[in-house]
Amino acid sequence: MYHLGWFLGNGFGIQTWDGILDTPFSGTNLTDWTKPDLYVDMTSSLERAGFDYILIEDTAMIEDTHSGTAEATLRRGLFAPKNDPVPLVPLMAQRSKHIGIIPTCSTIQYPPYLAARLYTGLDHLTEGRVGMNIVTSVTDRVAQNFGYEQHLEHDERYVLAAEWSEVVTRLWESWEPDAVVADPVRNYYADHTKVHTIDFKGKYFSCRGPLNTIPGPQRRLPIAAAGNSPAGRDFAARYADTMLVISTDAAEMRKFRTDMHRRLRDYGRRPEDFKMLFIATPFVGRTDADAEERLAAAQAARWGDLAIEYSLWYMTYVSGGRIDFGQYELDKPVSDLMIAGGNGERVSMSNMFNNRGDMTLREIAATRFSVANLGLVGSPETVAAKMDELMEEVGGDGFLFYLPTTRLQIAEIADGLAPALQRRGSIRKGYDHKTLRENLLAF
Ligand SMILES: Cc1cc2nc3c(=O)[nH]c(=O)nc-3n(C[C@H](O)[C@H](O)[C@H](O)COP(=O)(O)O)c2cc1C
Repeated sequence: MYHLGWFLGNGFGIQTWDGILDTPFSGTNLTDWTKPDLYVDMTSSLERAGFDYILIEDTAMIEDTHSGTAEATLRRGLFAPKNDPVPLVPLMAQRSKHIGIIPTCSTIQYPPYLAARLYTGLDHLTEGRVGMNIVTSVTDRVAQNFGYEQHLEHDERYVLAAEWSEVVTRLWESWEPDAVVADPVRNYYADHTKVHTIDFKGKYFSCRGPLNTIPGPQRRLPIAAAGNSPAGRDFAARYADTMLVISTDAAEMRKFRTDMHRRLRDYGRRPEDFKMLFIATPFVGRTDADAEERLAAAQAARWGDLAIEYSLWYMTYVSGGRIDFGQYELDKPVSDLMIAGGNGERVSMSNMFNNRGDMTLREIAATRFSVANLGLVGSPETVAAKMDELMEEVGGDGFLFYLPTTRLQIAEIADGLAPALQRRGSIRKGYDHKTLRENLLAF
Protein backbone atom coordinates (compact mmCIF):
# COMPACT_ATOMS: atom_id res chain seq x y z
CA MET A 1 0.00 0.00 0.00
CA TYR A 2 1.06 3.57 -0.49
CA HIS A 3 0.05 7.01 0.75
CA LEU A 4 -1.90 9.87 -0.81
CA GLY A 5 -1.92 13.58 -0.11
CA TRP A 6 -3.70 16.58 -1.62
CA PHE A 7 -1.88 19.85 -2.14
CA LEU A 8 -4.17 22.84 -1.66
CA GLY A 9 -1.83 24.80 -3.88
CA ASN A 10 -3.20 28.29 -3.37
CA GLY A 11 -3.66 27.93 0.37
CA PHE A 12 -6.59 29.71 2.00
CA GLY A 13 -7.01 31.89 -1.08
CA ILE A 14 -9.13 32.02 -4.20
CA GLN A 15 -9.10 28.57 -5.75
CA THR A 16 -9.36 27.88 -9.45
CA TRP A 17 -11.72 30.13 -11.40
CA ASP A 18 -12.22 31.10 -15.02
CA GLY A 19 -9.67 33.90 -14.69
CA ILE A 20 -6.94 31.41 -13.87
CA LEU A 21 -7.90 28.17 -15.55
CA ASP A 22 -10.61 27.97 -18.10
CA THR A 23 -13.07 25.98 -16.00
CA PRO A 24 -16.82 26.39 -15.62
CA PHE A 25 -16.81 24.20 -12.47
CA SER A 26 -15.47 26.49 -9.78
CA GLY A 27 -18.92 27.22 -8.37
CA THR A 28 -19.11 30.42 -6.33
CA ASN A 29 -15.55 30.19 -5.09
CA LEU A 30 -14.64 33.61 -6.43
CA THR A 31 -16.84 35.22 -3.80
CA ASP A 32 -17.00 32.37 -1.25
CA TRP A 33 -13.32 31.48 -0.88
CA THR A 34 -13.20 33.10 2.57
CA LYS A 35 -15.90 30.72 3.84
CA PRO A 36 -14.97 27.31 5.23
CA ASP A 37 -17.40 25.24 3.11
CA LEU A 38 -15.15 24.10 0.26
CA TYR A 39 -12.33 23.16 2.65
CA VAL A 40 -14.70 21.28 4.93
CA ASP A 41 -16.27 19.47 1.97
CA MET A 42 -12.90 18.46 0.56
CA THR A 43 -11.80 17.15 3.94
CA SER A 44 -14.71 14.71 4.16
CA SER A 45 -14.32 13.66 0.52
CA LEU A 46 -10.61 12.97 0.82
CA GLU A 47 -11.11 11.16 4.11
CA ARG A 48 -13.61 8.89 2.37
CA ALA A 49 -10.83 8.27 -0.14
CA GLY A 50 -8.33 7.29 2.57
CA PHE A 51 -5.92 10.20 2.04
CA ASP A 52 -3.20 10.68 4.64
CA TYR A 53 -3.29 14.44 4.54
CA ILE A 54 -4.24 17.74 2.97
CA LEU A 55 -1.30 20.09 2.76
CA ILE A 56 -2.23 23.78 2.75
CA GLU A 57 0.15 26.14 0.99
CA ASP A 58 0.84 29.60 2.37
CA THR A 59 2.60 32.78 1.33
CA ALA A 60 2.18 36.26 2.80
CA MET A 61 2.67 38.90 0.13
CA ILE A 62 1.15 40.72 -2.79
CA GLU A 63 3.62 40.06 -5.58
CA ASP A 64 4.48 43.12 -7.66
CA THR A 65 7.80 42.19 -9.21
CA HIS A 66 6.18 40.66 -12.30
CA SER A 67 6.26 43.42 -14.96
CA GLY A 68 7.02 45.74 -12.06
CA THR A 69 3.40 45.99 -10.91
CA ALA A 70 0.73 44.22 -8.85
CA GLU A 71 -1.71 44.68 -11.75
CA ALA A 72 -1.80 41.05 -12.95
CA THR A 73 -1.60 39.74 -9.37
CA LEU A 74 -4.72 41.59 -8.28
CA ARG A 75 -6.66 41.48 -11.54
CA ARG A 76 -6.47 37.71 -11.43
CA GLY A 77 -6.16 37.02 -7.70
CA LEU A 78 -2.79 35.28 -8.07
CA PHE A 79 -1.59 34.15 -4.61
CA ALA A 80 -3.39 37.18 -3.18
CA PRO A 81 -5.63 37.79 -1.36
CA LYS A 82 -4.84 34.96 1.02
CA ASN A 83 -5.64 34.22 4.66
CA ASP A 84 -3.41 32.43 7.11
CA PRO A 85 -4.24 28.70 6.86
CA VAL A 86 -4.19 27.99 10.61
CA PRO A 87 -7.77 29.08 11.43
CA LEU A 88 -9.05 26.59 8.83
CA VAL A 89 -7.58 23.62 10.65
CA PRO A 90 -10.07 23.20 13.54
CA LEU A 91 -12.96 23.73 11.11
CA MET A 92 -11.68 21.02 8.79
CA ALA A 93 -10.96 18.72 11.71
CA GLN A 94 -14.38 19.14 13.23
CA ARG A 95 -16.06 17.58 10.21
CA SER A 96 -13.64 14.65 9.90
CA LYS A 97 -12.18 11.99 12.16
CA HIS A 98 -9.00 10.62 10.63
CA ILE A 99 -7.41 12.60 7.83
CA GLY A 100 -4.35 14.72 8.63
CA ILE A 101 -4.16 18.45 7.98
CA ILE A 102 -0.82 20.10 7.36
CA PRO A 103 -0.80 23.89 7.13
CA THR A 104 2.34 25.63 5.93
CA CYS A 105 4.51 27.54 8.36
CA SER A 106 7.29 29.73 7.01
CA THR A 107 10.47 30.08 9.01
CA ILE A 108 10.55 33.80 8.24
CA GLN A 109 6.87 34.45 8.92
CA TYR A 110 6.51 32.94 12.40
CA PRO A 111 8.93 33.20 15.30
CA PRO A 112 9.70 29.62 16.40
CA TYR A 113 8.24 29.92 19.91
CA LEU A 114 4.95 31.19 18.51
CA ALA A 115 4.91 28.40 15.91
CA ALA A 116 5.64 25.65 18.43
CA ARG A 117 2.89 26.93 20.71
CA LEU A 118 0.33 27.52 17.97
CA TYR A 119 0.77 24.10 16.38
CA THR A 120 0.69 22.34 19.74
CA GLY A 121 -2.64 24.05 20.31
CA LEU A 122 -3.80 22.65 16.96
CA ASP A 123 -2.55 19.21 17.91
CA HIS A 124 -4.79 19.35 20.99
CA LEU A 125 -7.80 20.66 19.10
CA THR A 126 -7.48 18.07 16.33
CA GLU A 127 -6.61 15.22 18.71
CA GLY A 128 -3.34 14.57 16.95
CA ARG A 129 -4.19 15.12 13.31
CA VAL A 130 -2.11 18.16 12.48
CA GLY A 131 1.34 18.41 10.91
CA MET A 132 3.58 21.36 10.04
CA ASN A 133 4.82 22.08 6.52
CA ILE A 134 8.03 23.97 7.14
CA VAL A 135 9.03 26.25 4.27
CA THR A 136 11.67 28.92 3.96
CA SER A 137 9.55 31.22 1.72
CA VAL A 138 10.50 31.84 -1.85
CA THR A 139 10.43 35.54 -2.71
CA ASP A 140 11.79 38.87 -1.60
CA ARG A 141 8.29 40.26 -1.26
CA VAL A 142 7.52 37.88 1.61
CA ALA A 143 10.86 38.62 3.28
CA GLN A 144 10.17 42.36 3.05
CA ASN A 145 7.00 41.92 5.09
CA PHE A 146 9.03 40.43 7.91
CA GLY A 147 11.91 42.82 8.39
CA TYR A 148 14.34 41.80 5.64
CA GLU A 149 15.54 44.07 2.86
CA GLN A 150 15.81 41.06 0.58
CA HIS A 151 15.35 37.40 1.19
CA LEU A 152 18.43 35.51 2.40
CA GLU A 153 20.36 33.68 -0.29
CA HIS A 154 19.05 30.22 -1.07
CA ASP A 155 21.29 27.98 1.05
CA GLU A 156 21.44 30.43 3.96
CA ARG A 157 17.65 30.15 4.22
CA TYR A 158 18.13 26.53 5.18
CA VAL A 159 20.67 27.49 7.85
CA LEU A 160 17.99 29.71 9.37
CA ALA A 161 15.34 26.99 8.89
CA ALA A 162 17.49 24.40 10.67
CA GLU A 163 17.92 26.69 13.70
CA TRP A 164 14.22 27.50 13.66
CA SER A 165 13.30 23.82 13.55
CA GLU A 166 15.76 23.03 16.31
CA VAL A 167 14.03 25.57 18.58
CA VAL A 168 10.56 24.31 17.68
CA THR A 169 11.37 20.62 18.17
CA ARG A 170 13.24 21.24 21.43
CA LEU A 171 10.26 23.19 22.74
CA TRP A 172 8.02 20.25 21.81
CA GLU A 173 10.27 18.10 24.00
CA SER A 174 10.54 20.59 26.86
CA TRP A 175 7.94 18.77 28.94
CA GLU A 176 8.81 15.21 29.86
CA PRO A 177 6.05 12.73 29.00
CA ASP A 178 5.03 12.28 32.64
CA ALA A 179 5.34 15.93 33.71
CA VAL A 180 1.57 16.44 33.85
CA VAL A 181 0.03 14.72 36.84
CA ALA A 182 -3.36 16.49 36.91
CA ASP A 183 -4.40 14.95 40.23
CA PRO A 184 -7.43 16.76 41.70
CA VAL A 185 -7.19 14.81 44.96
CA ARG A 186 -3.67 16.03 45.72
CA ASN A 187 -4.29 19.44 44.14
CA TYR A 188 -1.26 18.79 41.98
CA TYR A 189 -1.07 19.75 38.33
CA ALA A 190 2.48 19.37 37.00
CA ASP A 191 5.89 18.34 38.28
CA HIS A 192 8.22 21.31 37.79
CA THR A 193 11.32 19.07 37.82
CA LYS A 194 10.11 17.56 34.55
CA VAL A 195 9.64 20.81 32.65
CA HIS A 196 12.90 22.17 31.22
CA THR A 197 14.29 25.31 29.66
CA ILE A 198 15.94 24.79 26.27
CA ASP A 199 18.39 27.72 26.49
CA PHE A 200 18.95 27.89 22.76
CA LYS A 201 21.32 30.50 21.35
CA GLY A 202 22.00 30.56 17.65
CA LYS A 203 22.86 32.92 14.82
CA TYR A 204 19.23 33.80 14.07
CA PHE A 205 17.23 32.79 17.12
CA SER A 206 17.56 32.48 20.82
CA CYS A 207 14.91 31.01 23.05
CA ARG A 208 14.82 30.16 26.72
CA GLY A 209 11.74 27.96 26.95
CA PRO A 210 10.12 25.81 28.20
CA LEU A 211 6.96 25.87 26.10
CA ASN A 212 4.09 27.29 28.13
CA THR A 213 1.65 24.58 27.15
CA ILE A 214 1.53 20.84 27.57
CA PRO A 215 2.53 18.49 24.74
CA GLY A 216 -0.21 17.53 22.31
CA PRO A 217 -1.20 13.93 21.46
CA GLN A 218 1.69 13.68 19.00
CA ARG A 219 4.21 15.62 21.16
CA ARG A 220 6.55 16.19 18.21
CA LEU A 221 4.32 16.96 15.24
CA PRO A 222 4.93 15.32 11.86
CA ILE A 223 6.92 17.76 9.76
CA ALA A 224 6.59 18.10 5.99
CA ALA A 225 9.25 19.67 3.77
CA ALA A 226 9.23 20.61 0.10
CA GLY A 227 12.67 21.92 -0.86
CA ASN A 228 14.21 19.56 -3.40
CA SER A 229 17.66 21.16 -3.82
CA PRO A 230 20.61 19.51 -2.01
CA ALA A 231 20.20 21.96 0.90
CA GLY A 232 16.45 21.30 0.94
CA ARG A 233 16.96 17.53 0.93
CA ASP A 234 19.41 17.75 3.76
CA PHE A 235 16.98 19.82 5.79
CA ALA A 236 14.22 17.29 5.15
CA ALA A 237 16.45 14.35 6.09
CA ARG A 238 17.22 16.02 9.38
CA TYR A 239 13.82 17.27 10.46
CA ALA A 240 10.96 16.06 8.28
CA ASP A 241 8.70 13.02 8.38
CA THR A 242 7.21 13.48 4.93
CA MET A 243 8.49 15.22 1.84
CA LEU A 244 6.98 16.51 -1.38
CA VAL A 245 9.03 15.54 -4.37
CA ILE A 246 9.06 17.09 -7.84
CA SER A 247 9.93 14.57 -10.56
CA THR A 248 9.14 13.70 -14.13
CA ASP A 249 9.60 9.94 -14.44
CA ALA A 250 10.16 6.70 -12.56
CA ALA A 251 13.95 6.73 -12.97
CA GLU A 252 14.19 10.22 -11.43
CA MET A 253 11.82 9.27 -8.62
CA ARG A 254 13.90 6.24 -7.78
CA LYS A 255 17.12 8.19 -7.80
CA PHE A 256 15.60 10.78 -5.50
CA ARG A 257 14.35 8.14 -3.10
CA THR A 258 17.73 6.42 -2.93
CA ASP A 259 19.46 9.74 -2.32
CA MET A 260 17.05 10.63 0.50
CA HIS A 261 17.49 7.24 2.14
CA ARG A 262 21.24 7.78 2.18
CA ARG A 263 20.79 11.22 3.76
CA LEU A 264 18.38 9.83 6.36
CA ARG A 265 20.85 7.12 7.34
CA ASP A 266 23.57 9.78 7.62
CA TYR A 267 21.41 11.47 10.26
CA GLY A 268 20.93 8.15 12.05
CA ARG A 269 17.32 7.83 10.91
CA ARG A 270 15.43 4.85 9.50
CA PRO A 271 14.23 5.36 5.90
CA GLU A 272 10.94 3.60 6.71
CA ASP A 273 10.09 6.45 9.12
CA PHE A 274 10.08 8.94 6.25
CA LYS A 275 7.42 9.13 3.53
CA MET A 276 8.15 10.71 0.16
CA LEU A 277 5.08 11.76 -1.79
CA PHE A 278 5.68 12.40 -5.48
CA ILE A 279 3.82 15.38 -6.87
CA ALA A 280 1.50 14.44 -9.74
CA THR A 281 -1.40 15.83 -11.72
CA PRO A 282 -3.41 12.79 -12.80
CA PHE A 283 -5.95 13.18 -15.60
CA VAL A 284 -8.82 10.88 -14.84
CA GLY A 285 -11.63 10.50 -17.40
CA ARG A 286 -14.64 8.31 -17.96
CA THR A 287 -12.57 6.30 -20.43
CA ASP A 288 -8.94 6.37 -21.54
CA ALA A 289 -9.93 8.24 -24.68
CA ASP A 290 -11.90 10.76 -22.64
CA ALA A 291 -8.90 11.41 -20.38
CA GLU A 292 -6.50 11.72 -23.34
CA GLU A 293 -8.87 14.18 -24.97
CA ARG A 294 -9.06 16.26 -21.81
CA LEU A 295 -5.30 16.26 -21.42
CA ALA A 296 -4.87 17.37 -25.02
CA ALA A 297 -7.41 20.16 -24.49
CA ALA A 298 -5.68 21.27 -21.29
CA GLN A 299 -2.31 21.30 -23.06
CA ALA A 300 -3.72 23.28 -25.98
CA ALA A 301 -5.29 25.80 -23.57
CA ARG A 302 -1.87 26.57 -22.15
CA TRP A 303 -0.96 28.47 -25.32
CA GLY A 304 -3.76 31.00 -24.77
CA ASP A 305 -2.76 34.54 -23.75
CA LEU A 306 -4.24 34.31 -20.25
CA ALA A 307 -2.54 30.96 -19.62
CA ILE A 308 0.82 32.30 -20.83
CA GLU A 309 0.48 35.34 -18.57
CA TYR A 310 -0.32 33.06 -15.63
CA SER A 311 2.72 30.84 -16.29
CA LEU A 312 5.06 33.80 -16.67
CA TRP A 313 3.74 35.32 -13.45
CA TYR A 314 4.34 32.06 -11.65
CA MET A 315 7.81 31.72 -13.15
CA THR A 316 8.67 35.18 -11.78
CA TYR A 317 7.48 34.02 -8.35
CA VAL A 318 9.42 30.76 -8.56
CA SER A 319 12.61 32.72 -9.38
CA GLY A 320 12.23 34.39 -6.00
CA GLY A 321 10.96 37.57 -7.63
CA ARG A 322 14.49 38.13 -8.96
CA ILE A 323 13.77 37.52 -12.65
CA ASP A 324 10.92 39.45 -14.21
CA PHE A 325 9.60 37.16 -16.91
CA GLY A 326 7.08 39.84 -17.84
CA GLN A 327 9.77 42.02 -19.43
CA TYR A 328 11.02 39.75 -22.21
CA GLU A 329 9.92 39.18 -25.76
CA LEU A 330 7.95 35.98 -25.83
CA ASP A 331 9.04 34.66 -29.19
CA LYS A 332 12.81 34.91 -28.79
CA PRO A 333 14.90 31.96 -27.59
CA VAL A 334 15.64 32.00 -23.87
CA SER A 335 19.22 33.00 -23.07
CA ASP A 336 21.34 32.06 -20.06
CA LEU A 337 21.56 35.76 -19.24
CA MET A 338 17.79 35.98 -18.93
CA ILE A 339 17.58 33.26 -16.30
CA ALA A 340 20.71 34.03 -14.29
CA GLY A 341 20.27 35.31 -10.76
CA GLY A 342 17.23 33.39 -9.54
CA ASN A 343 16.99 32.92 -5.78
CA GLY A 344 13.82 30.90 -5.38
CA GLU A 345 12.90 27.28 -6.11
CA ARG A 346 16.07 25.86 -7.63
CA VAL A 347 14.69 22.54 -8.80
CA SER A 348 11.58 24.06 -10.40
CA MET A 349 13.83 26.52 -12.26
CA SER A 350 16.20 23.88 -13.56
CA ASN A 351 13.30 21.63 -14.62
CA MET A 352 11.99 24.51 -16.71
CA PHE A 353 15.20 25.64 -18.33
CA ASN A 354 17.62 22.70 -18.52
CA ASN A 355 18.07 21.05 -21.94
CA ARG A 356 15.89 23.66 -23.56
CA GLY A 357 17.75 23.92 -26.89
CA ASP A 358 16.53 27.05 -28.67
CA MET A 359 13.07 27.09 -27.10
CA THR A 360 11.41 30.49 -26.82
CA LEU A 361 10.03 31.93 -23.60
CA ARG A 362 6.49 31.30 -24.88
CA GLU A 363 7.32 27.64 -25.51
CA ILE A 364 8.82 27.25 -22.03
CA ALA A 365 5.78 28.91 -20.44
CA ALA A 366 3.35 26.75 -22.40
CA THR A 367 5.10 23.41 -22.05
CA ARG A 368 7.73 23.37 -19.34
CA PHE A 369 6.02 25.28 -16.58
CA SER A 370 3.85 22.53 -15.17
CA VAL A 371 3.78 19.71 -12.70
CA ALA A 372 4.36 16.32 -14.34
CA ASN A 373 1.38 14.04 -14.80
CA LEU A 374 3.82 11.10 -14.59
CA GLY A 375 1.82 9.35 -17.31
CA LEU A 376 -1.22 9.11 -15.05
CA VAL A 377 -3.80 9.65 -17.78
CA GLY A 378 -6.85 7.45 -18.37
CA SER A 379 -9.89 5.89 -16.79
CA PRO A 380 -9.82 5.30 -13.01
CA GLU A 381 -8.71 1.69 -13.62
CA THR A 382 -5.95 2.71 -16.03
CA VAL A 383 -4.59 5.43 -13.76
CA ALA A 384 -4.73 3.14 -10.72
CA ALA A 385 -2.75 0.48 -12.61
CA LYS A 386 -0.16 3.07 -13.71
CA MET A 387 0.21 4.33 -10.16
CA ASP A 388 0.83 0.78 -8.99
CA GLU A 389 3.43 0.27 -11.73
CA LEU A 390 5.25 3.46 -10.73
CA MET A 391 5.29 2.52 -7.07
CA GLU A 392 6.53 -0.94 -7.97
CA GLU A 393 9.42 0.61 -9.90
CA VAL A 394 10.22 3.32 -7.38
CA GLY A 395 9.67 1.40 -4.16
CA GLY A 396 7.21 3.86 -2.48
CA ASP A 397 5.92 5.90 -0.68
CA GLY A 398 3.01 7.57 -2.47
CA PHE A 399 1.69 10.60 -4.36
CA LEU A 400 0.72 14.17 -3.64
CA PHE A 401 -1.95 15.36 -6.06
CA TYR A 402 -1.57 18.92 -7.20
CA LEU A 403 -4.83 19.62 -9.01
CA PRO A 404 -7.31 22.47 -9.26
CA THR A 405 -9.33 22.43 -6.05
CA THR A 406 -12.92 22.27 -7.29
CA ARG A 407 -15.62 19.94 -5.96
CA LEU A 408 -15.86 18.25 -9.36
CA GLN A 409 -12.12 17.60 -9.50
CA ILE A 410 -12.12 16.28 -5.94
CA ALA A 411 -15.05 13.97 -6.72
CA GLU A 412 -13.19 12.53 -9.72
CA ILE A 413 -10.36 11.55 -7.42
CA ALA A 414 -12.30 10.66 -4.26
CA ASP A 415 -15.16 8.82 -5.96
CA GLY A 416 -13.49 7.64 -9.18
CA LEU A 417 -9.79 7.00 -8.76
CA ALA A 418 -9.63 6.23 -5.02
CA PRO A 419 -12.22 3.40 -5.11
CA ALA A 420 -10.30 1.87 -8.05
CA LEU A 421 -7.11 2.02 -5.99
CA GLN A 422 -8.91 0.60 -2.96
CA ARG A 423 -10.24 -2.33 -5.03
CA ARG A 424 -6.67 -3.12 -6.01
CA GLY A 425 -5.54 -2.94 -2.38
CA SER A 426 -3.14 -0.10 -3.24
CA ILE A 427 -4.40 2.46 -0.71
CA ARG A 428 -6.18 2.17 2.64
CA LYS A 429 -9.92 1.54 2.88
CA GLY A 430 -10.11 2.94 6.39
CA TYR A 431 -7.79 4.28 9.03
CA ASP A 432 -6.23 1.99 11.63
CA HIS A 433 -4.94 4.71 13.91
CA LYS A 434 -5.93 7.97 15.53
CA THR A 435 -3.05 10.32 14.80
CA LEU A 436 -1.52 11.61 11.59
CA ARG A 437 1.90 10.29 12.57
CA GLU A 438 0.61 6.79 13.27
CA ASN A 439 -1.34 6.62 10.02
CA LEU A 440 1.63 7.96 8.05
CA LEU A 441 3.91 5.31 9.50
CA ALA A 442 1.37 2.47 9.34
CA PHE A 443 2.82 1.10 6.09
C1 LIG B 1 4.69 21.09 -3.48
C2 LIG B 1 5.40 22.29 -2.94
C3 LIG B 1 4.77 23.05 -1.98
C4 LIG B 1 5.36 24.21 -1.49
N1 LIG B 1 4.68 24.98 -0.62
C5 LIG B 1 5.19 26.17 -0.26
C6 LIG B 1 4.44 27.06 0.54
O1 LIG B 1 3.32 26.77 0.93
N2 LIG B 1 5.00 28.25 0.88
C7 LIG B 1 6.25 28.61 0.48
O2 LIG B 1 6.71 29.68 0.84
N3 LIG B 1 7.00 27.77 -0.26
C8 LIG B 1 6.48 26.58 -0.65
N4 LIG B 1 7.22 25.75 -1.44
C9 LIG B 1 8.60 26.10 -1.73
C10 LIG B 1 9.56 25.18 -0.98
O3 LIG B 1 9.29 25.17 0.38
C11 LIG B 1 11.00 25.59 -1.19
O4 LIG B 1 11.25 26.82 -0.57
C12 LIG B 1 11.30 25.71 -2.61
O5 LIG B 1 10.98 24.54 -3.28
C13 LIG B 1 12.75 26.06 -2.83
O6 LIG B 1 13.55 25.09 -2.30
P1 LIG B 1 14.53 24.23 -3.18
O7 LIG B 1 15.31 25.20 -4.00
O8 LIG B 1 15.31 23.53 -2.11
O9 LIG B 1 13.68 23.31 -3.99
C14 LIG B 1 6.64 24.59 -1.95
C15 LIG B 1 7.30 23.80 -2.89
C16 LIG B 1 6.70 22.67 -3.40
C17 LIG B 1 7.42 21.86 -4.42
